[in-house]
Amino acid sequence: MKNISFLICIATVFLTNCANTNEDKPLAKKYVIETHSYAEPNDAVITHLDLDVSVDFDVKQIKGTASYNISSNNASEIILDSKFLEVSKVLVDGKEVTFTMGDFNEQLGQALKIPIQSNSKQITVHYNTTNKTEALQWLSPQQTADKKEPFLFTQGQAILTRTWIPIQDSPQIRVTYNATVKVPSQLMAVMSAENPKTKNNNGIYTFKMRQAISPYLIALAVGDINYKAVSNRTGIYAEPSLLEKAHFEFSDMEKMVVAAENLYGKYDWDQFDVIVLPPSFPFGGMENPRLTFATPTVIAGDKSLTSLIAHELAHSWSGNLVTNATWNDFWLNEGFTVYFEMRIMEALYGKDRANMLALIGRQDLEEELEGFKDSPNDTKLKLDLEGRNPDDGMNSIAYDKGYLFLRTLEETVGRIEFDAFLKNYFKSHAFSTMTTERFITYLNTNLLEKNKITFNTEEWIYKPGIPENQAVITSNKFEIVEQTIASFLKNNTIDKTLTQDWTTQEWVHFVRNFPKTITPEQMELIDNAFDLTHSNNSYIAMVWFEQAITHNYKANNVDEMISSFLNKVGRRWYVSTLFKAYKNSNKVEEALEIYKNSRGNYHSVTINTIDAMLGYKN
Ligand code: BES
Ligand code: ZN
Repeated sequence: MKNISFLICIATVFLTNCANTNEDKPLAKKYVIETHSYAEPNDAVITHLDLDVSVDFDVKQIKGTASYNISSNNASEIILDSKFLEVSKVLVDGKEVTFTMGDFNEQLGQALKIPIQSNSKQITVHYNTTNKTEALQWLSPQQTADKKEPFLFTQGQAILTRTWIPIQDSPQIRVTYNATVKVPSQLMAVMSAENPKTKNNNGIYTFKMRQAISPYLIALAVGDINYKAVSNRTGIYAEPSLLEKAHFEFSDMEKMVVAAENLYGKYDWDQFDVIVLPPSFPFGGMENPRLTFATPTVIAGDKSLTSLIAHELAHSWSGNLVTNATWNDFWLNEGFTVYFEMRIMEALYGKDRANMLALIGRQDLEEELEGFKDSPNDTKLKLDLEGRNPDDGMNSIAYDKGYLFLRTLEETVGRIEFDAFLKNYFKSHAFSTMTTERFITYLNTNLLEKNKITFNTEEWIYKPGIPENQAVITSNKFEIVEQTIASFLKNNTIDKTLTQDWTTQEWVHFVRNFPKTITPEQMELIDNAFDLTHSNNSYIAMVWFEQAITHNYKANNVDEMISSFLNKVGRRWYVSTLFKAYKNSNKVEEALEIYKNSRGNYHSVTINTIDAMLGYKN
């Protein structure tokens, strides 16, 4: 591995100035200070993981060994992160040693300190997870699509991998891995690695991940799933009853990979598959390398929500290839990814679609800024998350302001220059990490100074709010939607010929832009015309429910639809939007009534957010 990174660096010297030449020398301090990990990687670092575990659905436990190849700088110990794990034994080069577990910290967990010698090569940790694990969600058959078999998935980002594997859990660390995972024989296991495409009889699956990845990207899912290819390098894993629907929905996957490669260079991960998880999955998607994890709520039947796939695919460059060094640099992952996502969508479906998506993000940004008006520091691109749970501070500013920054840059320097710059950025920093400061230096040298352009980069990155020179995004289609709202408010009727060709994005824009003064009677007129309460599109339903809660709309049994939605769907963005609407309308009691029943269906990251929002005490 060392030799390879050395060669990459040599190659990089010729391509760029190799800003990180020094950092690849073994004795230099390669890693920046990271407040969300106990590891001291400048002293001793893991380079490869061999995981050998069994998955026990009866006791809801993962148990086995994590072995690491290590490289050290004459250190006398190597420190791993662990949280809610039970460690029974540690070996160094095959010999048992006395390890220590540090004090427990609510956010970080415990340091696992292992004594080593300067020539130690390998450590092995015997461990098991406990029922406090935060990464894992164990689902009963009832919580799956087919309701026959249980399901398990992991969520590593931001600092949860340490709750199912003892590891140096900082995004600056990169490991290759091999894994052997034993599961009940009727289930199949898949990871962010080279995956099986069919079930085997003994329930023992082996995995190999030859590209080095950050620990937050190590992922596992176990369930009754089948595979169907979309192309020779893309395809879908899903429960049997969902597989055909998902396959249709995501049938443009290969085209997306081609579009992405045409923009910013070769796809470096060989395979790009998606696994559709049960509805409690807390995110829209998670960019686990080679195998994106996705919510079933994007299966709308008409491919209208597949920008999510473009987003997770884009992370194969921004995030997985060039990784934020610390969670304070999170915008380097998400802002670039949203920008890239919009470019993929534009390439496949045209500017109209891309601009509608961008404008929805622009409105999100306005709402977020309003929400953070008392904590403006949270609206900076570069965050300061020290002492906080990164998951609380990593808000969507990184996405929407990050996007607007990059779009503004693009419009300032011109698309051709900007694309060439981004392509080189990914190529010259592939399989390495990036800090905000190093990015600024790289931007100045390779784009701005080169083109003699002055740009207020520092203001965009280090100041709250949005600078004056922001790109202006427009959409004719959304203007028509706005006119439709205005004419409805005047006449209390909508000409259906205007709405018959509306896409999901137009409906979402329509519903989100009702005036504050809209009445329940007016909402009922709209509902009677379009039955939004029973929309099969999760996004349209969600924004409609948000308005129903805010404006006391009660007709058509909408309350029942809302509570059954919240009971089933655990996607944090949806769930928190709706609970926030209750809270902002002084209906916390009503929210708690629903939450009491739905909470058990959610993953820990959704629970943490909603507990805090509603002041829920378990
Ligand atoms: N990497 C994120 C999900 C994430 C962020 C997990 C922070 C944990 C901490 C993923 O790529 C993402 O951004 N998902 C979005 C979808 C997207 C289309 C904006 C989501 O889940 O809504
Ligand atoms: Zn993302």
